Amino acid sequence: MNTPAPSAGRAASGATAEPPATTTAATGASAEFGSPPILALKRATVRFAGGGLPVWDGLSLSVSRGESLCLLGASGCGKSTVLRVMAGLQPLASGEMLTAVRSPAFVFQEPALLPWADLERNVGLPLQLAGWTAAAKEQRVQAVLERVGLTGRERALPHELSGGMKMRASIARALVMQPDLLLMDEPFSALDDPTRQRLQADLLQWWQVQGFALCFVTHQVAEAVFMASRVVVMGAQAGHIVAEFRVDEPFPRSADFRRSARFHERCVAIGDALAAAGSSIRSAA
Ligand SMILES: Nc1ncnc2c1ncn2[C@@H]1O[C@H](COP(=O)(O)OP(=O)(O)O)[C@@H](O)[C@H]1O
Ligand SMILES: [Mg+2]
Repeated sequence: MNTPAPSAGRAASGATAEPPATTTAATGASAEFGSPPILALKRATVRFAGGGLPVWDGLSLSVSRGESLCLLGASGCGKSTVLRVMAGLQPLASGEMLTAVRSPAFVFQEPALLPWADLERNVGLPLQLAGWTAAAKEQRVQAVLERVGLTGRERALPHELSGGMKMRASIARALVMQPDLLLMDEPFSALDDPTRQRLQADLLQWWQVQGFALCFVTHQVAEAVFMASRVVVMGAQAGHIVAEFRVDEPFPRSADFRRSARFHERCVAIGDALAAAGSSIRSAA
């Protein structure tokens, strides 16, 4: 893939930062073997208005092209803030972010669909805002609706869709702009278990087909192990990285993986790291 190295972006200091020579050296956190980073935070901190301590104690973290990275940690440790910074929605107080991301997309826990607009209009909204013609927009929306399994529901209003369908619509609205980085903040936590597991598998399929980097937050260790190629555990205090795990399991991942001993071993290891980090998250699915 012919892709640029990350350039200095949104550096809090205003200083020009050199592109990282290697992912590991530049970020202090290892990344996908052989893949260059698409984004790297270096000793980053965020401070909210009203004073108080910074959210992180100098966070260094990279996202590689095409990887599926999961952030785990106790509530309040700064996971959502990481995603907001990566999306360019939150400035840094210090440190810097090197980024080659051209088209980030965000999926929240709530599908956040426009209640008065049908599915086609909801999914096509980013294209409309970007000034696409009606014909081009329709073609892209149809293709994405087919990908997420919502063909035939174009005229449905959000309240006519199930929770799983609403989340599919929300993901479709993110995929429609063909993001190179998809950020997801606890996207499936409101769904029942079978719906959640179907969406996990489907999302991995879309991730493989479209080739974007995925960075997601979950409170479920089993979800992290099933979906991620790398899991980063953030400390309960000062939001630094206390543990990192590679999930060396090939994609696509099947239901058999969920039932395997290696799956459960990883859940236990990551659950233990969370417990050691001062988290109350349980490792059971
Ligand atoms: N807009 C804000 N203003 C002030 N404090 C905030 C704001 N957003 C988050 N925080 C604080 O920053 C810390 C990290 O928040 P967050 O990133 O949402 O954590 P997490 O997603 O891990 O639960 C928390 O202590 C939270 O209260
Ligand atoms: Mg959060």
